[in-house]
Amino acid sequence: ARSFAGLNWLQGKKALVTAGGTQEPLDPVRYLGNRSSGRMGYAIAQALQEAGAETILVSAPTDLPTPHGVTKISVQTALEMYDVVLGLFPEIDVVIKAAAVADYRPAVEAEQKIKKTGTSRTLELVPNPDILAELGRMKTSQVLIGFAAETENLMENAQHKMQKKNVNLLVANDVTKPGAGFGCPTNIVSFLFPDGRRIDLPQMSKLEVARHLVREIAKLLGIQTK
Ligand code: CTP
Ligand code: CA
Repeated sequence: ARSFAGLNWLQGKKALVTAGGTQEPLDPVRYLGNRSSGRMGYAIAQALQEAGAETILVSAPTDLPTPHGVTKISVQTALEMYDVVLGLFPEIDVVIKAAAVADYRPAVEAEQKIKKTGTSRTLELVPNPDILAELGRMKTSQVLIGFAAETENLMENAQHKMQKKNVNLLVANDVTKPGAGFGCPTNIVSFLFPDGRRIDLPQMSKLEVARHLVREIAKLLGIQTK
């Protein structure tokens, strides 16, 4: 794929990307996590930066290097991500919510390591705020991009999420397909738009997916991409 360097579609625009899987602490040595590697979000941050956007990456813990020229803010939990993203939102032009945010967190974080008892036990979980849905309610002129990670009924579930969260574009992702999803260097996605348009992309690297997404973002911002 050709590089976007020098095209400068997003020059003067501020972009915020979230990436990785949040970690919800249980005690000082344990957390609830998920299989997100952060690769898709990091690729998007790189593509936005290459297109000239001032790019902030709000990242849950990952093993990935920060893309050149991107400002990274590290967070661990969904609540930390919520605070950072909502705080920055008013000054941002485009938000891409690629992070796998934990829907629930343990009701209490134990101060000391939880000891085994040898009997079964139950863990109480409480819901985390839905960051993307909150941005959808707050949004003024921002372009808002969401992801849908699904294991069944991809298009139906994705369509529903797009409407519920008031996004301008939803990236639908069947995470069970070979060549797609968590930890994979490639992805197979569809872009869904509120006007009913849909773009199905073939399997390609996550950076190529990110570059396609950047083109659509530029169009949504009213920028000529020819
Ligand atoms: N998301 C978010 N905050 C949450 C949960 C999800 O911002 N607490 C965002 C994700 O970053 C993603 C989109 O919402 O862009 C969809 O996430 P997904 O897990 O696919 O959907 P949910 O709305 O959480 O619904 P469910 O997990 O029940 O399918
Ligand atoms: Ca979820």
